[in-house]
Amino acid sequence: MTHFDHIKAFAFDAYGTLFDVHSAVGEYREKIGGKADQLSALWRSKQLEYTWLRSLMGVHADFWQVTQDALDYTLDSHDIDDEDLRENLMNAYLRLACYPEVKNMLAELKDKGMRVTVLSNGSPDMLEAALQSSGLNHDFDAIFSVEEVGIYKPHPSVYQIACDYLKLKPEEICFQSSNAWDAAGAAQFGFKVVWINRFGQKRERLPKGADMELQSLEGLPGLVG
Ligand code: 2OP
Repeated sequence: MTHFDHIKAFAFDAYGTLFDVHSAVGEYREKIGGKADQLSALWRSKQLEYTWLRSLMGVHADFWQVTQDALDYTLDSHDIDDEDLRENLMNAYLRLACYPEVKNMLAELKDKGMRVTVLSNGSPDMLEAALQSSGLNHDFDAIFSVEEVGIYKPHPSVYQIACDYLKLKPEEICFQSSNAWDAAGAAQFGFKVVWINRFGQKRERLPKGADMELQSLEGLPGLVG
């Protein structure tokens, strides 16, 4: 008996967990040059920062808008004034590369009778585009976006969306995120949580943490019988 025995459904964070957020800048690495990695890291951190700030301020805008705002800040910070590059990077966000283990892992979970869902900050259009471009658009039972509640993770009302739809208690849902702060938020809410620590990050100092840590999603199906 492990603490994963009562799990009836899985909910996956999208950006960073299913999709490689740095693959957008990766497509334009040659054009951007030596600062590509720095630029991608700043874009991602500003994007997340803006979600938290907007949530605290009570001024929601969808993730497409926030992602554009974060990119504008980032390009400005690097003294890049290039409308084509801006447009290309935003379009690349709609076809982010999916991590290689995702498709088989989902099939294994479904073989074990699990429902599999996405629970993401992404707007429905962004999520649909990225899932379609990775050939994953038929692999999930449901896609949940924060747009349903108009506030970002880690607000508890976001995690509640999955419970309401799936008609399950938090502890019957296993949530996966590569974002340690998201894993902490989901654990605080009451989900079982697996932190997909893809980048060997240190654990966050927050009240609750994940129940388990894996380096990728590959070992996930092995946690359930
Ligand atoms: C997501 O919700 C946090 O970006 C992350 O997909």
